[in-house]
Amino acid sequence: MCGIVGAVAQRNVIPALLEGLKRLEYRGYDSCGIAVYQQDALHRVRSTDRVAELAAQVHEQQLQADTGIAHTRWATHGAPATHNAHPHFSGHESGASRIALVHNGIIENHDVLRDELRNIGYVFESQTDTEVVAHLIDHLYQGDLLAAVQQACLRLQGAYALAVIASNEPHRMVGARNGSPLVAGLGEGENFLASDALALAGETSQIIYLEDGDVVDLKIEHVHIFDASGAQVERAIHTVHLQSGEADLGPYRHYMQKEIFEQPRAVGDTLQDVEAITPELFGDNASQTFEQIDRVLILACGTSYYAGLTAKYWIESIARIPVSVEIASEYRYRDSVPNADTLVVTISQSGETADTLSALKHARSLGMENTLTICNVATSAMVRECKLAYITRAGVEIGVASTKAFTTQLTALFLLALAIAQVKNQLPAEKEAVYLKSLRHLPKAIASVLALEPQVIDWAERFSSKEHALFLGRGMHYPIALEGALKLKEISYIHAEGYPAGELKHGPLALVTEAMPVVTIAPRDELLEKLKSNMEEVHARGGELYVFADADTNIASSTNIHVIRMPENYGMLSPILHAVILQLLAYHTACALGTDVDKPRNLAKSVTVE
Ligand code: G6P
Repeated sequence: MCGIVGAVAQRNVIPALLEGLKRLEYRGYDSCGIAVYQQDALHRVRSTDRVAELAAQVHEQQLQADTGIAHTRWATHGAPATHNAHPHFSGHESGASRIALVHNGIIENHDVLRDELRNIGYVFESQTDTEVVAHLIDHLYQGDLLAAVQQACLRLQGAYALAVIASNEPHRMVGARNGSPLVAGLGEGENFLASDALALAGETSQIIYLEDGDVVDLKIEHVHIFDASGAQVERAIHTVHLQSGEADLGPYRHYMQKEIFEQPRAVGDTLQDVEAITPELFGDNASQTFEQIDRVLILACGTSYYAGLTAKYWIESIARIPVSVEIASEYRYRDSVPNADTLVVTISQSGETADTLSALKHARSLGMENTLTICNVATSAMVRECKLAYITRAGVEIGVASTKAFTTQLTALFLLALAIAQVKNQLPAEKEAVYLKSLRHLPKAIASVLALEPQVIDWAERFSSKEHALFLGRGMHYPIALEGALKLKEISYIHAEGYPAGELKHGPLALVTEAMPVVTIAPRDELLEKLKSNMEEVHARGGELYVFADADTNIASSTNIHVIRMPENYGMLSPILHAVILQLLAYHTACALGTDVDKPRNLAKSVTVE
């Protein structure tokens, strides 16, 4: 998704800007650009290629500057083309370019504004909503960039994070935030803006998280922040120890593979501080909150939504309170029935997903103030906006397709089920001990699943020639079937659907032929016999089954039934192990097809627009 980096300094900022863009690359983008103030004028370089190519162009043009802004763009309005790439320029009155601007988010009233600006003579070079903002600021500019941006913001509807520089004002950069993340980074005689603090790793660890409505004025000697009313405000400075996004690949071919193999470590780290089950794992006063609530509402998107669906099975079965799970982008616009005794749980790897943040705000506006997040980024907006939090310790996840973030979310959600159960007197000490033992053994159990990789590679070769696949699961493994199908389609582009196996005969059975592999999750649980009947239904119609069966099931390979034996049944935590093997299947199928595994086409890591 779009990324912003900007700097004002007393040194050449181009290396910092390019390095910042590189750190944001993993989020997904389709063009990039940089604009700098050099010798009384604004200069710009843009590319629809990678940041490395942009850097080559910048070096060729021998750009050097101490004020500049840079951007990675994930197209929303206007195709991924150089003329739509940011920064956008404006300079109607002066003839030369006077304003350069980068933007994340979506301006909803861009049509109205474009018409107005066209009528007064502005000529548009792009199809973007962003260029409208550049011209609007130029139109309002009377020698003071801060004032122009403040006035422009009053006219903007929608979500935005902006960074703007002007040809008349060297050593000045103005930023604004409304609904899209933006941070200010404080240095010694230099200051920065970025859409994610990670972009500033190596430059500064002193970070201010701007709030919605904030406009920020950055010069060499100061950073001044103004709230939506125009009053100057102080915002807390956080010391953030930033990890580089570009971790070493080590022996792996892709970040996704590395991240799949990191899962024993990631899950172990996520459980690191868990000595016993206690509500306080989720924050001070969590026990009071858990006592008060009598239901749970989970809000999330994508893979995080599937973690939520799995948690529904756990929380209802272990803690015995009702759970509903909603796709955040649907919930925020639905006329739902609120209940103040609800625990609202958001799940988000990044903590910046626009739909999930808006759904959270919507829930709060309906009077539901008991909020908790399961999040992988401690400094994110999601964590700041929720009363309670559990921070997963997956580490930076670079592959767009989520893997270690998912299994660590599941781990945290299982803990949540146990903690609520404890407060609701549903967790006898013996059961707590058994669950804790399983959790502690989980990293080893995941490692034994990873050891099955060679068998999965064999299957992946066969999958790579297919155009469709069906994933079946039952009970708490149904959401894992959905996630397995999502992983396959995201990175291999093979069309895949997840189904609860019992629904097979209500529709998808019509699709079953020898050309449609049917992946089946077959744990040894109380639904196994029913699942075997579903498998028979496929087999009898000439379908080809690929079964991940627990070692202690008696499912054997035969014609058109291929079986990979999983370790023995892992009880309530079995979905985590089955999720891991399906990640490997998707990964190796994508490798066999030669797709761009870590940056699948059209997708972004962190979706900060609606
Ligand atoms: C994007 C990513 C997915 C992720 C989803 C939700 O679609 O590609 O991997 O599951 O956003 O992101 P979040 O950061 O809120 O978990």
